[in-house]
Amino acid sequence: MAITTNYRARSDAVPLRAFPAKGRPSAIAGVGVHAPGKVLSNFDLERMMDTSDKWITERTGIHRRHIAEPGTTTFELATAAARSALDAAGVTAQDLDMILVGTSSPDGPFPSVACRVQNELDAPGSVAWDTLAACTSFVYALSIADSFIATERADTVLVIGAEVLSRMIDYTNRGTAVIFGDGAGAAVVKGAPEGAGFLSWCLGSGGRGYAQVTCGNIPKGAYAAKDATPYIEMVGPDVFKFAVDIFIRQATEVCHQAGIDLDEIDLWVPHQANFRIIDAAARRIGLPIERVAINIDEYGNTSSASIPLALEEAIRNGRVKSGDHVLLAGFGSGLTWGATLMKWA
Ligand code: ACO
Repeated sequence: MAITTNYRARSDAVPLRAFPAKGRPSAIAGVGVHAPGKVLSNFDLERMMDTSDKWITERTGIHRRHIAEPGTTTFELATAAARSALDAAGVTAQDLDMILVGTSSPDGPFPSVACRVQNELDAPGSVAWDTLAACTSFVYALSIADSFIATERADTVLVIGAEVLSRMIDYTNRGTAVIFGDGAGAAVVKGAPEGAGFLSWCLGSGGRGYAQVTCGNIPKGAYAAKDATPYIEMVGPDVFKFAVDIFIRQATEVCHQAGIDLDEIDLWVPHQANFRIIDAAARRIGLPIERVAINIDEYGNTSSASIPLALEEAIRNGRVKSGDHVLLAGFGSGLTWGATLMKWA
């Protein structure tokens, strides 16, 4: 279905909500990931549609993406990432007060993916629910975790981003099929020493841009329209411009709220939507690309899983030290956006 809208996604048309972290500080205590073993390379896609490795590499930075076998559930990927995050943080499922899953590809309308993960992990003492904000879901869910810990209504929260987006891809549409992949990442969030952990937040939504990135019937939504084959569609070039602007504005706002300069960012972990979006924003912020976590070449755009997948790789490669200023920033369908600046604990 063609997308027709007069809306132009310009980030300077949307007000930002930015604020410093308040109350009891919280921090990421451990990160874990899981990606399906099956890999779909650009060369595989060349054989499936009118595209080329050269076009995909030059326009997106993507070389391959991991694709789940048919029938794979989002909760399976989420649970695998969760187990690894619990190990990394040295906590057990029974320690969890809350499980939050950010996902754009739940296995059904209900039960939530989070409740399925809770059951798999055997974490009966926790409260579990999903956050649906497309590629911003992980940052939104992190902000909920921080809020509950700040107000002493939770001590230990598991935040997961998990996606089986391949179920929502039309593999005859070269505009979207080359972009997206499957995967999951999870973070355990706990109380932090004063001055460490999350320092500031920038969160926002621009519902007037609802038609910019969609899955299924655009005016009514896939369920109401009984759309039997809902596939991801997007107004790529418009979203591209919006994304560059919103990355820059969010980085500026969270640094301002935390009282640091942009050049004090030690590592930026952006949503992995397109290497050119990340590169353009980094240049305009004045951040050397060596201080940006990028693994879109390996995974493509995994929506809510992309930030934890990139963060975990950066940690594993020794790129994050105690005291570093780490910026996480996302944007996605809705439109939605969210960023946080933290001091690595
Ligand atoms: N292979 C070869 N050619 C292609 C392909 C492909 N896979 N896809 C598009 N083209 C062609 C187009 O048909 C067009 O041809 P034409 O000039 O003859 O008409 C040409 O390439 C340029 O197309 P554009 O869409 O203008 O290409 P662009 O450089 O903008 O790249 C892309 C497209 C990669 C989608 C880019 O716009 C982008 O990354 N946008 C941002 C998307 C995004 O960030 N989405 C995040 C939200 S996801 C979520 O929330 C779930």
